[in-house]
Amino acid sequence: MVEIYDLVIRRARLRDRPRERLYDIGIEKGRITEISEKIVGKGSEEIDAGGNLVTPSFINMHFHLDSVLTLGRPRYNESGTLWEGIEIWGELKEKLSIEEILSRVEKAVKLMAAYGTLLVRTHADTSVRSLNTVKALIRAREMLRDIIEIQVTAFPQDGILTDPGNAELLEKAVELGADNVGMIPHNEWTREDGVRSIEIAFEIAKRYNRDVDGHIDETDDPVSRYLEVVAAKAIRYGWQGRVTAGHVTASHSWDPAYRYRISSLTRKAGITIIANPLINIHLQGRFDPYPKRRGMAPIKFFLSRGINVALGHDCIMDPWYPLGVGDMLQTLFMAVHVDQIMGVTELRQSLDLITYNGARAARIIDKYGVEKGKEANLLVLNARDELDALRILGPPLYVVKGGKVIADNTSRTEQKILYRGKWERIEQYIDDLVGRI
Ligand code: FE2
Repeated sequence: MVEIYDLVIRRARLRDRPRERLYDIGIEKGRITEISEKIVGKGSEEIDAGGNLVTPSFINMHFHLDSVLTLGRPRYNESGTLWEGIEIWGELKEKLSIEEILSRVEKAVKLMAAYGTLLVRTHADTSVRSLNTVKALIRAREMLRDIIEIQVTAFPQDGILTDPGNAELLEKAVELGADNVGMIPHNEWTREDGVRSIEIAFEIAKRYNRDVDGHIDETDDPVSRYLEVVAAKAIRYGWQGRVTAGHVTASHSWDPAYRYRISSLTRKAGITIIANPLINIHLQGRFDPYPKRRGMAPIKFFLSRGINVALGHDCIMDPWYPLGVGDMLQTLFMAVHVDQIMGVTELRQSLDLITYNGARAARIIDKYGVEKGKEANLLVLNARDELDALRILGPPLYVVKGGKVIADNTSRTEQKILYRGKWERIEQYIDDLVGRI
């Protein structure tokens, strides 16, 4: 009897198998059950990869869904600095309702999923008195689970010690169901407060058994050295492998001897560094005359020291970043330029920054990959290999989530996503922004 699969992907090229051969991938009940050069059985649904690369889905390890698509509200960031962005967001955030946030999140997530991201880790600002940001993103996690997996980090944007109520709000957000505990030590008033804020974040993480996901050293200031404290605390609290450090842009400007020493401690602590190339090349170096520092965490250096590095898109059209469609290939494209990850072998391996390395940091590696038994969250890229993917950019031809085709970008003029059982056209244009520009 001929075996029937739920879905068969035909003629796929795979990164970890001989490139001159093509493979069929059989999927049943949301999992990969067969990979071979010729699957005899039929699929209830079949798609032809046509010799293109099939990879596991992209992972966006650092994003702000609560502020997404708020560009121009109430005003634009004219200085292009992180600090003006925080001020603008501060003018808006208390006025947001849960429904308003969800309507923007829904639009953004459809774009992200159509561009191949099936796991996004988002920060939810806890320095909003209503915590509508947190409540909305926790609700989005459920509402959008058919097209994306959302991990929510409780994020004290304005600092933990800058206002007496902030620590309580951070903890309340975790009680409401946030997955991870965030922090922003470089935005506290003093070095001592920064150190204490890290301790508070770890204490909450320990109390509620949550991972730690910080904004760390997001400045060009070479004396911003909070990564060392985060690493020491990760070891002392027994939280190795459960901590991510986002941005770490100061590490670009650290003295090389210090950077080297701290990299050993960072590795020992099992910390993943999350670089955010699109936003950091835009926000950093703003106080430099020419020549300007690039201000992105040195990816190649941290990798060479045995540290896991993954990437985040950080923002789409908000007070910090005016562009973006949620394409992690664009993020990677920027990273390989900024950090000169341009050797052919380096370029090939760089795809790990938005796939396997992210899966390790998000702690989903057990179910992630193009292997038998793994969840069928797969992309048929519009590319024969990694170099093509980075050259051509744009959405994958197909996005498969849980064994189902959820996005079809094979038409040149019409991208489609399966949402709540119906095929919808993806809207690239954000009409409600047009009036504000
Ligand atoms: Fe961020």
